[in-house]
Amino acid sequence: MAASPAKTFYIETFGCQMNAHDSEKIVGTLISEGYRQVDTVEVADLVFYNTCSIRDKAEQKVFHRLADFKRLSQQGKKFGVLGCVAQQEGRRIFERAPHVSLVAGSASYRNLGSMVRAIEHGHERVTGLDDRETEECFETEFTARTNPHRGYITIIEGCDKFCAFCVVPYTRGKERSRSSDSVLVEATRVVDAGYTEIQLLGQNVNSYKDPLGKRTFAELLAAVGEVPGIRRVRFITSHPRDFGRDIVEAIEAVPALCDHVHLPVQSGSTQVLGVMQRLYTREQYLERIGWMKQAKRPISITTDVIVGFPGESEDDFQQTLSLLDEVEYDGVFAFKYSTRPNTPAQKYLDHIPEQEKSRRLAVLMERQRAIQERNNARHVGEVLTAMVEGRNETRQQWVGRTSQNKILNFAAPAEARLRAGQYAEVRVTRSFPNSLLGEVVV
Ligand code: 5AD
Ligand code: SF4
Repeated sequence: MAASPAKTFYIETFGCQMNAHDSEKIVGTLISEGYRQVDTVEVADLVFYNTCSIRDKAEQKVFHRLADFKRLSQQGKKFGVLGCVAQQEGRRIFERAPHVSLVAGSASYRNLGSMVRAIEHGHERVTGLDDRETEECFETEFTARTNPHRGYITIIEGCDKFCAFCVVPYTRGKERSRSSDSVLVEATRVVDAGYTEIQLLGQNVNSYKDPLGKRTFAELLAAVGEVPGIRRVRFITSHPRDFGRDIVEAIEAVPALCDHVHLPVQSGSTQVLGVMQRLYTREQYLERIGWMKQAKRPISITTDVIVGFPGESEDDFQQTLSLLDEVEYDGVFAFKYSTRPNTPAQKYLDHIPEQEKSRRLAVLMERQRAIQERNNARHVGEVLTAMVEGRNETRQQWVGRTSQNKILNFAAPAEARLRAGQYAEVRVTRSFPNSLLGEVVV
């Protein structure tokens, strides 16, 4: 047996699925550079933080980590800050945390191997801070897929929308798509590796534009759904402006495409949407929801909402609540607005007090809880296909996920011999606002 590599690394990932998948590619790249992954900072030669700066709290986490482990740099350990905080703060990170040797944003990962070699050669201040103009995607043959049952594939990177509150266009750079041919090659490879579920990723996944002009986003979705061996295809996150009816038609036509769309609305008030520079009105958003509601199979819809955006009046907020009632979402990720560096909204002055933001958030979440309770109750008695994601030993239950992306916990006799990644037919017996409960149908 070959000896395991002597050089070791530890990586911690914050933030969204794009970051989670970037880390899978970073891990693969480090392994190809002769490193071995370890589980604790203490035993690692190289410590990487793949960071998120979408909201203030997320950003603070990395600086806490760096402070916690500063003393370990004296033992020769090297620290690297990757991801959105790295791109946003750039060289300032070296001032704030002098024990850091590498600062690199996602638009530079294709050079990660050479950056790591530079650290090994003793360079103290290595940077990968390609500006937002890069045309390149991070495509690598070395992806170390760590999610046991879901194969991620990034199809489009960056963002050109420039919503007033958002750092992403600055941290992840210009929008750029991979060729649909290369996505399909990767999809086949992911299936060959044993995956039956693929999730296509992009900051605005449905803004995808094939550089070779061969397939639209909806056509690519359908083509991935038709790769032999695929059972489930998901895609995240969609932008309402670019959400065409053809996506709904693809879901109707191709059974492997999951019955779920995540369509962030941010606000139910056309006036606030305008100031946010979201490029759609409440009515245009609801038109897209209408397409999904009329689909031949029920499509679960989830969203993101920001409360307390500068200038959001009580009436604007009430419009967001009425939108929740109208759409009847199956899930809402709601956030208090937080000012982000370099964004247009940073200059807006009419800020809502923190306490009022908290109140609005609580009211919204309470309202949404009741909606989910009602939606989920409709599943009781149905038999749904759940993909087994794991087991909760304390509760003696399997943890599964439906095509609609709902958590379905269930009991199964030992003879069912379930394993993570398998599918089970489950009768729903009870419902809760955030999950379903059932038993396997034998
Ligand atoms: N403040 C609060 N929430 C934000 N989001 C993005 N930027 C901010 C911000 N500055 C939220 C949006 C987005 C989700 C990923 O994070 O709702 O859809
Ligand atoms: Fe941010 Fe808007 Fe781009 Fe989404 S579409 S990543 S919210 S700028």
